[in-house]
Amino acid sequence: MTTTTTAPMHTSSSLRVIVAVDAESAARMAAERISALIRTRPTAVLGVATGSTPSPVYRALQTLRRTEGLDLTRASAFALDEYVGIDPRRSQSYRSVIDAEVTRPLGLDPLRVAVPDGSAPDLVEAGRAYEEGIRSTGGVDLQILGIGHNGHIGFNEPGSAHDSLTRTVDLTPETREANARFFDGRIDQVPTRALTQGIGTILRAREIVLLAFGPGKAAAVARALEGAIERSSPASALRKHRAVTILLDKAAASMLG
Ligand code: PGA
Repeated sequence: MTTTTTAPMHTSSSLRVIVAVDAESAARMAAERISALIRTRPTAVLGVATGSTPSPVYRALQTLRRTEGLDLTRASAFALDEYVGIDPRRSQSYRSVIDAEVTRPLGLDPLRVAVPDGSAPDLVEAGRAYEEGIRSTGGVDLQILGIGHNGHIGFNEPGSAHDSLTRTVDLTPETREANARFFDGRIDQVPTRALTQGIGTILRAREIVLLAFGPGKAAAVARALEGAIERSSPASALRKHRAVTILLDKAAASMLG
C-alpha cells in the first residue's frame, strides 16, 4: 500500500497482512485506501466501526479532507452495531460515536449514515430492515473493522455463525469489561445486548480492512490468521473473503508465526 511498512508477513491471493511502523501510519494507510475509493467512486458505501481502533483512521480522513479536499458528501455509511436499549442521544451510544467521529467531522450527509436501531420495539424487524438498507444501497464497498480481545468482529462473539446476519446478541463479560472504559469504568452500566451486523453481513462487503493495535490484540490476531477457521474464532471467517487487508502495528503482529 505504501512504503512506510515492513514487507507483508503473510500473503495469499485474498488476504494480506501489513505491519506498519506504528498505529498512526497503519491508520493513514486505511484512510488513503478509503480516499482512493472515493476518488473513483464518490458515492461509495463505507462500513464503519466504533471503538478505539478506528479513531485514528477517522482522524487521518479529516486530515485528507483538509489537505486534499477529500469529499465524502455523496458517500454512504453503515455502522456495524449498536447497544440494545441505549438512548441514542447518550454519548456512549454508537449512534452518537458515529455522529461525533464520522458523520460531522468528515462531512457525510446524516441521511446517508445508518446505525442499527438498538431501541426499536421489534429488534428482529430492525435487523431485517438494516440488512435491506445495506442491500438497497448496492452493498458495502469497503468495511473498516477492529477486532476484540476474544476475536469478535462487530459484536459477533465467539460461537457466532459465520453466515449470521444482523441480529441481537448477548455480550460476553469480557466484552462488557473491555467497554466499561466508555462508561466511567462501570461494567454494570454497559448494556448486556447489542444489535450487530452478522459475520455473513460483514463478509458481503466487497473489501475489508481490519486494524489491530497493541499487545492486547496479538493473540486474537494470531488466532484469526493462523488458527482454525471455526465458530469459536469469529475473525477467522475473514479468511473466506477474497479481498481483506489486515493492518497491524508491531505489537499486534508479535504473535504471528
Ligand atoms: P477497540 O474494540 O477498538 O476499542 O479495541 C475493537 C472491537 O471490539 O472490535
